[in-house]
Parts: sequence; structure tokens; C-alpha cells
Amino acid sequence: MSDKLNLGVIIGSTREGRWAPAPAKWIAGVAEQHGGFDVDLIDLLDADLPQHLAEDDMWSTEAAPSAPVAALSERLHRADAFVVVSGEYNMSIPASLKHAVDFYMNEWAAKPVAMITYGGKITGGQNAAQHLRQIFPELRTMTIRNTIAFPRFYQHFNEHGEFSKFDESEPAAKTLLDELHWWGRALTNARNATPMPSPF
Ligand SMILES: Cc1cc2nc3c(=O)[nH]c(=O)nc-3n(C[C@H](O)[C@H](O)[C@H](O)COP(=O)(O)O)c2cc1C
Repeated sequence: MSDKLNLGVIIGSTREGRWAPAPAKWIAGVAEQHGGFDVDLIDLLDADLPQHLAEDDMWSTEAAPSAPVAALSERLHRADAFVVVSGEYNMSIPASLKHAVDFYMNEWAAKPVAMITYGGKITGGQNAAQHLRQIFPELRTMTIRNTIAFPRFYQHFNEHGEFSKFDESEPAAKTLLDELHWWGRALTNARNATPMPSPF
């Protein structure tokens, strides 16, 4: 039996001139090499979610969501684990990422998420990671221990998303992906054995 899990790597920023694709393509490449994952690189810019939350797009099973909401729902449902790639915006995450998180509920449930953050400051986007640790439990999503942070990220990637420094990032990514795979396997087995109870 294949032990491969479906991994959704989420590009959290939709900002014009954003850097998010560089670290996202890097971690997606490392995950492809890892051997434990089939990787889906999910770009929230392409997902093109509606600007406003609408009743039909939300969590009711009877509703017929709009096409972009349904398309992203399918990709999130397919994932057994996530890597969220986020810059730090005013000590938190970009609105585009929070918006996408808020659209969904069961898609996130009983799955692990790893966080790769970056920022303009020396803190490497750790405030964004801490906010995600507050948000995801509400969706019954498990944030894992290991994170990777890129302080002054523009010093570490070139325009093609390739590293220019930071040799220890590659082994750190391997450790993070090993942990994510362990939780992804454990929670996939648990979801298959017993459906999660309703949170309401
Ligand atoms: C509105 C805004 C707020 C920001 N706030 C912070 C911050 O609090 N801490 C930090 O380290 N960098 C901050 N930055 C710098 C961003 O982390 C940096 O520009 C990063 O590239 C943003 O991700 P993106 O390029 O993928 O959109 C901010 C940038 C913007 C646009």
C-alpha cells in the first residue's frame, strides 16, 4: 500500500508583487522530493474567491456554492495535510489567507497544518504563525510543532524562488515534512475509522 498523502501547499498572499510563490515553490519542491506526498500547489490568487462571504458559499450542506468556492473546496477536501505559506502583515496573516480560511470548515477538519512564514523584519513572520495557531483550532485543524521562518526573506530567495543562502533550511524542511507526514497519516487513519463529530 502506498503511504503517500495528498499535501496542499497554500500560497497565502495575493498581493501585487508578492513574494509568497518563492518560498511556496521551494517547500513544494522539497515535499515532492520527500517521497511521502503528492503535492497540490494551491494559489489563492488563482482561486479567485468572492470578495464577500455569501450564505450559499458557507458551510450548509444544502447550499450550492459558487464555482470558485466549490473548486477550492474540492482541493482542500482532497488534501490530507497542509503547508500554509504566509508573510506577516501587521503582526498577523494577510487578509487573503484569513478570507480563504473563513470560507471553509469541514475541509480543514482533523488534518495537520505546517506553517512557513516570512516577513520584512528579523522575526521571520513568527507573529503570523502564532495567529494561525489561534485560528486553526476553531476549524479543528492541528498545527504542528515545527515551523520554518525567513527573516528579511528577500535576502534568501531569488526571483525564481531559488535559495541564495540558509543551508540549514533544507534539513529543517525535511524534519517538518516528516512530522507533518506522521500527523497526516495518523489523522487520515482516524478520520477513516471514525467520522469527526459535529462541532455544533
Ligand atoms: C500591509 C503590510 C504589513 C506588513 N507588516 C509586517 C509586519 O508586521 N512584520 C513584518 O516582519 N513584515 C511586515 N510586512 C512586510 C511583509 O511581510 C513582506 O512585504 C512580505 O513580502 C509580504 O508577503 P507577500 O510579499 O507574499 O505579500 C508588511 C507588509 C505589508 C504589505
